[in-house]
Amino acid sequence: MENTLEEIRTLAQKKRAVILAHNYQVREVQEIADFVGDSLELSRKAKSTDAEIIVFAGVRFMAETAKILNPEKKVLLPRSEAGCQMAEMVNAEAVRRLRKEYPDAAFVAYVNTDAEVKAEVDVCCTSSNAVRVVAAQPNKRIVFLPDRNLASWVARQLPEKEIIPYDGYCYVHNRFNVEEVRLARERHPEAEILVHPEVPAPVSLLADKVLSTSGMLEYARTSPKSRFIIGTEEGILVRLLKENPKKAFFLLGSVKVCANMKRTSLKDILISLKEERHAVELPEELRKRASLALEKMISL
Ligand code: 13P
Ligand code: SF4
Repeated sequence: MENTLEEIRTLAQKKRAVILAHNYQVREVQEIADFVGDSLELSRKAKSTDAEIIVFAGVRFMAETAKILNPEKKVLLPRSEAGCQMAEMVNAEAVRRLRKEYPDAAFVAYVNTDAEVKAEVDVCCTSSNAVRVVAAQPNKRIVFLPDRNLASWVARQLPEKEIIPYDGYCYVHNRFNVEEVRLARERHPEAEILVHPEVPAPVSLLADKVLSTSGMLEYARTSPKSRFIIGTEEGILVRLLKENPKKAFFLLGSVKVCANMKRTSLKDILISLKEERHAVELPEELRKRASLALEKMISL
């Protein structure tokens, strides 16, 4: 493993490459990355980097977002099959159909979507800025897609808006349930429960805080509390434990794993850098249209 690490570092330096990793990646990948973060932080980083190559250790929509924001850079997704099941639940045709049904609505898409969906909507959002983005829309009516759980959480924060949710969900977060919350409270009554907004509404209603992955990291770091129950994909524990060696973290219920987030290994990163595979390519016309909704989000 030491050899692989060394080879990655040398190659990345030689090729002026930056390695970005999502908070759910496996430990070794998080450790070799130049930057680890949530979707919004990673989009921002991808936009501001002066590296020539971006190796994206995450899932396809994240690498695609980096490419949309950085057309002149080479963006590599080490495992080309690492998709997001939620992103696959909606396509451009569905958005066009809804546009006809709700002509007076603003269309807000979670970044967990393909470029073709981003190209059809008014603005994108991530779990950390969804409320801000929706609040900033002049329309009362908002079609929010694809995550019904994030939509429902946003609707609770903004009762003045009429949120029309799409019926998508994350198969990982959708598995959290209220019985897991009840048991966790019973076992650790002193701990705070932090959940991701992709969990079902009855679960987020019972939680103490609803936060993006990096929102959880920030909260745990700055909170005077010392025990937390975490309701998201288990990869987040790598940073939670590293950044808070004196605090205790328990997973909410059974261990939840996103199979696609766990595909990328150090070896994949090395091969990807060596052979410059798999480069994300998008038709320029599509990229340009998709960039409007992303740039709008970033400017907010
Ligand atoms: P974050 O932006 O909170 O990291 O979430 C991304 C994601 O895919 C959650 O399932
Ligand atoms: Fe997609 Fe869910 Fe995996 Fe996040 S955890 S990448 S939303 S399938």
